[in-house]
Amino acid sequence: MLKLTYLSHSSFILDDGTHNLIIDPFINGNPTCPIDISSIKSKYVVLTHGHGDHLGDGLTIAKNNQALVIAVNELANYAAEHGANAHNMHIGGAWNFPFGRLKFTIAHHGSASPDGRYMGEPAGVVITMGGKTIYHAGDTGLFMDMQLIGELNKIDVFLVPIGDNFTMGIDDAIVATKFVKPQLVIPMHYNTFPVIKADPNEFKAKAELEGFKCKVMEYGETMNL
Ligand code: NI
Ligand code: MN
Repeated sequence: MLKLTYLSHSSFILDDGTHNLIIDPFINGNPTCPIDISSIKSKYVVLTHGHGDHLGDGLTIAKNNQALVIAVNELANYAAEHGANAHNMHIGGAWNFPFGRLKFTIAHHGSASPDGRYMGEPAGVVITMGGKTIYHAGDTGLFMDMQLIGELNKIDVFLVPIGDNFTMGIDDAIVATKFVKPQLVIPMHYNTFPVIKADPNEFKAKAELEGFKCKVMEYGETMNL
């Protein structure tokens, strides 16, 4: 049984009972995150890009847990320079890890480290783990190639940003959902800051009108996939 925990913003934990993986761990400085960093036991840290609200506490978690950082080349190098074990990848490439298969996708956004260094291209990520395939879109605007991601993968869970301003807003996220055709869509990257204020229940209503199942996760909530 694969468990998905939402920590708020774009931070999620996937746990299949054997492997525990955290995506974009933004804990400290995140006013909506309900947990303490010391409670995180993840052995894998997956990063979509270098911005502070995604790289977040990834390096600390990696050090605390001797975890493996998985990211595109430039960001993975940055993590390694800061003492983390890292697995360098890049967009379009997949690798079979002990937890399952992971592939980075394109995302239309920027990527720099908190100290301003170029961190390569931002990414989304498709993870197959515990018999489920999850597509975390990262920070991105809407793009047509999401259709291809939906055609090439049977996406069980689509994690999509809806907060607008830095990423897609609600209406573009609905179009994205129609491209990806997931079994379940979960909104993310909203209400953390005033500038990304959005109503996840408006997104849910619109997704359901289009025939999709949508779950608005509470901060800290865990669901079985
Ligand atoms: Ni960003
Ligand atoms: Mn962001």
